[in-house]
Amino acid sequence: MNEAPPSDVTAPLPGIDGFLGTRGSLMLDLVFVAMFVVVPVMLYSIYLVRYQRRYELHKRIQLTLGGLLLVALSLFEADMQINGWESRAAASPYLELAADGSRSGVVQVALWVHLLFAITTAALWTVVIVRAWRNFPSPAAPNEHSAWHRRWAKLAAVDMIATSVTGWTFYWLAFVAT
Ligand code: HEM
Repeated sequence: MNEAPPSDVTAPLPGIDGFLGTRGSLMLDLVFVAMFVVVPVMLYSIYLVRYQRRYELHKRIQLTLGGLLLVALSLFEADMQINGWESRAAASPYLELAADGSRSGVVQVALWVHLLFAITTAALWTVVIVRAWRNFPSPAAPNEHSAWHRRWAKLAAVDMIATSVTGWTFYWLAFVAT
């Protein structure tokens, strides 16, 4: 094992470095930036359906966002499983890494809060998309599924925003703060 202990902040960081000039990996940086695109596009898609009745365009945008998120999050998860993030966050004043690898501090709390939103968002988006796909006609238009969709899709959208805000917070605490 030539792996450096997590507290050795001078050791080279595992995986591919990102492009934001922080301690983030390529995948961390990609997801960080992607959420600044996903959230406004999602809000625009909701504006289109709500104020312009562009149902089919809303459907296409939401399906594209869902597909992109699935690919991005799979790659992101692979990066986390293979390379981890702890050694990249070791220089953060908000993370405490014990010799046995256990984590504590504000960064760890921020991660739990973020995961709470991220996991519920993934579940809600899957259910909302699958149910919309099955229950709305093609081309998409309002029907008896509308009331259910408006309620749960709104929650899914709010959850996505909370996931992004808590994700950006975690990123800053772990990979930017010195
Ligand atoms: C997670 C993905 C999605 C989110 C977050 C989402 C979000 C929303 C929201 C918030 C509204 C209500 C707008 C308002 O306030 O009036 C809405 C309406 C609508 N959505 Fe989605 N949507 C998603 C996926 C889809 C898909 C995949 C379809 C089609 C297969 C679809 C079809 C519709 C239709 C037809 C309406 C209009 C319902 C009505 O006003 O009667 N949505 N969507």
